[in-house]
Amino acid sequence: MPFPADFLWGAATASYQIEGAVTEDGRGESIWDRFSHTPGMIENGDTGDVACDHYHRWREDLDLMREHGLQAYRFSVAWPRIYPDGTGAPNQAGIDFYARLVDELLERGISPMVTLYHWDLPQALETRQGGWTSRDTAEHFADYAATLFGALGDRVPHWVTLNEPWVAAFAGYLSGRHAPGRTDLGAAVRASHHMLLGHARAVQLFRSLGLAGQIGITLDLQRASPDGDSEENQRVAELADGYTNRWFLDPLFRGRYPADTEQLFEERGAALGDAVVSGDLEAISAPLDFLGMNFYMRRLYRADPSGRFGWSERLHRDGDDVTEMRWGIVPEAMGEQLARLRDDYPAIPIYITENGMADREGVGADGAVHDPRRIDYLRRHFAVAERAIAAGTDLRGYFVWSWLDNFEWGFGYRPRFGLVHVDFDTLTRTPKDSAGWYAKVIRSNGADLG
Ligand code: FCB
Repeated sequence: MPFPADFLWGAATASYQIEGAVTEDGRGESIWDRFSHTPGMIENGDTGDVACDHYHRWREDLDLMREHGLQAYRFSVAWPRIYPDGTGAPNQAGIDFYARLVDELLERGISPMVTLYHWDLPQALETRQGGWTSRDTAEHFADYAATLFGALGDRVPHWVTLNEPWVAAFAGYLSGRHAPGRTDLGAAVRASHHMLLGHARAVQLFRSLGLAGQIGITLDLQRASPDGDSEENQRVAELADGYTNRWFLDPLFRGRYPADTEQLFEERGAALGDAVVSGDLEAISAPLDFLGMNFYMRRLYRADPSGRFGWSERLHRDGDDVTEMRWGIVPEAMGEQLARLRDDYPAIPIYITENGMADREGVGADGAVHDPRRIDYLRRHFAVAERAIAAGTDLRGYFVWSWLDNFEWGFGYRPRFGLVHVDFDTLTRTPKDSAGWYAKVIRSNGADLG
């Protein structure tokens, strides 16, 4: 029995990447609307204005999920649909959209996993108070969470507070490659703490309401490895692991920030300083029901004095098989990361909340989308998950990224991650070969990886 009988097989999406309908039913502007409309920020000038038009076609999307036997669906709520202006009264039309979505998922026998924050902050909070650099944003996040717990808490079994705070903080506020496009290390460091604080406030509320469901957080936990075995490269890989992984794992599961990363930031004039108020870390390290892990790649680090942090990074080795994102395909690295979580952190149930690959395959002359590379990619990663379970990892479920081809942030619509192909001119959905293959995997509970 490789996969436990109640293992949850699902797929994931995120609001801004699929919904479209950005001005409908009272939705406010998000930082991603503003950012994607800023010239030069997104490949090809793409935006999420229409995306997959899921806001109008969601029933069709849910029907396709049911036809493929999906057991769970992870989606995110667009905060500016609920609080168009960030604060004030909630927008009932926005709440209703997600209430219908949840109800009809349940009717189809699909278990909803709801992510509260997958990067679409209300623009008003960015404009008024500098977004996540302001401590107040954590409190607004808690109000928003409270509204959703009130509306959906009786029937959503799994809640994810934040998706990938590392990307949201450091791509959003340091590299500027994501919304809101700022480039200030101090801002990124403060933003990361306030995101964790928002997470903590939401968890506190969730517990105080005594809801029956489970709550956790999703981190992107890419493997950080030295690019060649020199001592210097090993040293920077360890530092980079602090920056990309332990900066969030340690406060959540050990109640403190990692000293080496704090020092890395301090040396660059970006100490946490008085952003951390007494009591914050106790709240941030309150027990969670599960950890969500997004896994895509191994990052390779080499000592490089000209790099901002003293290293340079590659996402694949020369000759490695790569995806459309140029991310190397290294399933073993996912196994290493799971083993490390098991060995270095207290035991906690884990869900792979995202894993998958981008290609650019289109619909063929035969009307089908043949994506053998995706099938091979998933098969190899599922096999790693199976071995991790045998080796003692408490893995409870797996969500393929993504159900639909969608708006891939700065890369626009070029990389296609979906199990289902979307024609972005006609918005026609065509399940790829991988969707049919995944349906069989689910039916056999992973015994048949074909
Ligand atoms: C993750 C994001 C998700 C998607 C995948 C490819 O970092 O959470 O929205 O873009 O990468």
